Amino acid sequence: MNKNKKVTKAIIPAAGLGTRFLPETKALPKEMLPIVDTPTIQFIVEEAKKSGIKDIIIVIGKGKRSIEDHFDSNPELEANLEAKNKIDMLKSITKTNDMNIYFIRQSHPRGLGDAVYTARSFIGNEPFVVMLGDDVMEDKVPLTKQLMDSFENTGASTLAVKKVPHDQISKYGVIDPTEEVSDGLYNVRKFVEKPSPEDAPSDLAIIGRYLLTPEIFDILENTQKDASGEIQLTDAIDELNQTQRVFAHEFKGKRFDTGNKLTWLETNIVFGLRHPEIADGLRDYIKDLGKKLEKEDSGK
Ligand code: G1P
Repeated sequence: MNKNKKVTKAIIPAAGLGTRFLPETKALPKEMLPIVDTPTIQFIVEEAKKSGIKDIIIVIGKGKRSIEDHFDSNPELEANLEAKNKIDMLKSITKTNDMNIYFIRQSHPRGLGDAVYTARSFIGNEPFVVMLGDDVMEDKVPLTKQLMDSFENTGASTLAVKKVPHDQISKYGVIDPTEEVSDGLYNVRKFVEKPSPEDAPSDLAIIGRYLLTPEIFDILENTQKDASGEIQLTDAIDELNQTQRVFAHEFKGKRFDTGNKLTWLETNIVFGLRHPEIADGLRDYIKDLGKKLEKEDSGK
């Protein structure tokens, strides 16, 4: 039974083209976009580490070499920082050196379902998590750990969901929940990928953390491309839900969406205001920024 199997592996899909951030992402991976001074993908790997995940496979594509370099150790730089007694900096570049991080290439971007399928032989016959790189999650217990804890009770696949404003719903996979079986854990009738707001069965959106049983791979193997030409993970999950239960776990913590320009910038401001080195300067800068700019413009 799945319940007795421990979750130790994560897949981080990072092969997407990142078109929302062009021209920045022409040569650089969007996963390396910084939140102040830290690449977004570093937050994901840290969440995995804090959740007790041991092995991570990152699915990359063309132009993603810098992700490999980022997670490689850098003995020269480490020795240099150590010699200069720059301990905080040293810690910042070695935080996840103890994780086992592997890379695999998805040669043709064919959607999230295909990216996950690429890691099949790495995962084998074990339950695992999928962590999407666009969101930084914050809560007392890391979201991935919340899913793992839930799995210990149910032995079933479980997806993280969160309420989003109705006019945003068509950007997400959406659930049609039936009853709430325990606090924040829902049975689901249907999983629908990016419905129009009129057709959306609820405002509970899938937010990029999935705990899945390995049976998903047999389904993904045969999942057809959708109208946009992509193999959708949501479609495969909907099919899995016909043969074994798939739960939705409502995330009550904070979610920072770094996947589009505006919310990425907002995230940078929030993290900047928390950063000891720049918090004061940034606070001063943004205070009355609107008025300051107005004044400058009218003086032109
Ligand atoms: C993907 C999934 C979608 C999910 C979203 C979360 O979409 O296909 O179901 O809600 O991630 O960020 P994407 O953002 O890659 O278009």
